Amino acid sequence: MSYPFQIKSLEEYQQHYQKSIQDPESYWAEVASHFEWKKKWDKVLDCNFTEPKVEWFINGKLNITENCLDRHIKAGKGDQPALIWEPNDPEEHHRVLTYKELYFKVNQFAQVLLNNGVTKGDRVCIYMGMVPELPVAILACARIGAIHSVIFGGFSAQSIADRVTDAQAEYVITCDGAYRGTKEIPLKPVIDEALVQCHGVKRVIVLTRTRTPVSMIKGRDVWWEDEIKKVETLGNPKVEAAEMDAEDKLFILYTSGSTGKPKGVVHTCGGYMIWATYTFVNVFQYQPGEIHFCTADIGWITGHSYILYGPLSAGATSLMFEGIPTWPDAGRFWDIVDKYKVNILYTAPTAIRSLMAYGLQPLQGKDLSSIRLLGTVGEPINEEGWKWYYENIGKSKCPIIDTWWQTETGACLISNLAGVTAHKPCWATLPLPGVQPLLVDEKGNEITEKDSDGYYKGNLCLNGPWPGILRTTYGDHERCRQNYFATYPGLYFTGDGALKDDQGNFRITGRVDDVLNVSGHRIGTAELENAINMHNGVVESAVVAYQHDVKGQGIYAFVIYSGTLENEHLTRQDISLTVSKVIGAIAKPDKIQFVSGLPKTRSGKIMRRILRKIAEGELNQLGDTTTLLDPLIVDEIKNNRI
Ligand code: PRX
Repeated sequence: MSYPFQIKSLEEYQQHYQKSIQDPESYWAEVASHFEWKKKWDKVLDCNFTEPKVEWFINGKLNITENCLDRHIKAGKGDQPALIWEPNDPEEHHRVLTYKELYFKVNQFAQVLLNNGVTKGDRVCIYMGMVPELPVAILACARIGAIHSVIFGGFSAQSIADRVTDAQAEYVITCDGAYRGTKEIPLKPVIDEALVQCHGVKRVIVLTRTRTPVSMIKGRDVWWEDEIKKVETLGNPKVEAAEMDAEDKLFILYTSGSTGKPKGVVHTCGGYMIWATYTFVNVFQYQPGEIHFCTADIGWITGHSYILYGPLSAGATSLMFEGIPTWPDAGRFWDIVDKYKVNILYTAPTAIRSLMAYGLQPLQGKDLSSIRLLGTVGEPINEEGWKWYYENIGKSKCPIIDTWWQTETGACLISNLAGVTAHKPCWATLPLPGVQPLLVDEKGNEITEKDSDGYYKGNLCLNGPWPGILRTTYGDHERCRQNYFATYPGLYFTGDGALKDDQGNFRITGRVDDVLNVSGHRIGTAELENAINMHNGVVESAVVAYQHDVKGQGIYAFVIYSGTLENEHLTRQDISLTVSKVIGAIAKPDKIQFVSGLPKTRSGKIMRRILRKIAEGELNQLGDTTTLLDPLIVDEIKNNRI
């Protein structure tokens, strides 16, 4: 497969960019013409950011799985590996699924879904570990037009229940358990606990992975393997790919925002497919035959777009890894690179920082010469991490792509194109064609003056749509408008702050809203505070981020506790456990400080600015505290800082 829309030089990038802005409809129509449509669109774009309403490829009909599977087989690439699966335990056999094999399995499982009553438009929640059956389940949903909503394996029963309820899902697909390093993590028992609250769920399909004993509820739960056997006895029928409108929902993915409740970000079939594929081909500069290793979990958007849909639609070979980077030792990524001769390694700064801490010994004897390109995503990378990655993994010869994007944007928006446009340490650099970033001040005025450090600095907004922009938040369009399109009318607001240089390069500095980015995972402070406040004895809490060497941001919680604090250490553990139960272990606070009050304005608003400074240890830079209801509380908090 060649990629007619692959940009090959800086000049070509500039031409593409110009064309995409001057005449977006013809630019994206040309890109879309290289995909498989069941029926061509009538109109390319209908967009206003006020409602908001964004529609691409109107009345076009397609099925994304025909683009990810059928068309490659038709083109004679059926025997090429589509997915390579590296298990948690290096002693266990890895698996390779060619395009033909993946096609076969997707059809088989699509039939299982049909047999279990799943129809087009139904929501299916998927809570599985990183096993090859996870992509199979996702693609099988897409094959029959069911809307998948993958829930990251680290979320708690309560988080699952919230998501299943919000999505009004009647079907769940899970595993008995998952392996992560030395741990065997139960999944089905967590689903069981969640579903006590979700009476609408009619069917749970359970894959065997860890052989952990699980309870199977009669009439509701069935084994994946038994269902497959039934399909086999029917002779493995081929499942017709459902005809989907370009604007039909493909998936929902929940993400945290500044309010307490996660939002179900909705992506649709046509625009998302084009955007995931276009960015994969251009940002990674994928060449046919290369092995692409994205270390993300498919439970996050990065896995959706750059393990599954982008690579598969581009006919690439995508490697997925079940385990963790530090088991059996901190050389695991490098073993994988060596074993499969990986060409592209795409990971998160937090993984780089944690591996950096082990020094160079884990790299010894590992052949990394196959690597052509390194990538990072999910959070700002620090200079030291960038340099370590560049010198020791890329041997100072591989470009690093720093890809900035969000769940809501579907795929990359700002990034250098590997080897085509220049990288700049810690800078995401230039916008992709179709993407118009601009920096604004609090009032929405575009920043036209440089700061004292020579950069434009402001809140990052995006003007005009690109095909992969979210369409709505599931079941609540007003929430989508409020969250993204109301702060600065006419613009999409990202929630991030950024710098821009004279050449138009962007550097993302981090969230400017009440969202934390912990190890590349987005967690809302309101969601965290709600969870902490659920603990018996907690009266009120306030959560802020502080700089953390490995996680990027750590979670610092200030807690007012009403009960007697006989054992602070134990109470901290209890609160952490509560957070684990309510959200998941990823949200456990790193530090909990008990306080007798919180710094509040006279109108009762918590002054987080002050708490952030205290958490960072900037005790002499607290700014004006005179407007506080009780300025003395600040001294107490300062003195007892952890
Ligand atoms: O703050 C930005 C940060 O991650 C946020 C999006 O998180 P999520 O929706 O979970 O998606 C993560 C994977 C795309 C952004 O608002 N972020 C993402 N990429 C970068 C980044 N911050 C700095 N540099 C990046 N390359």
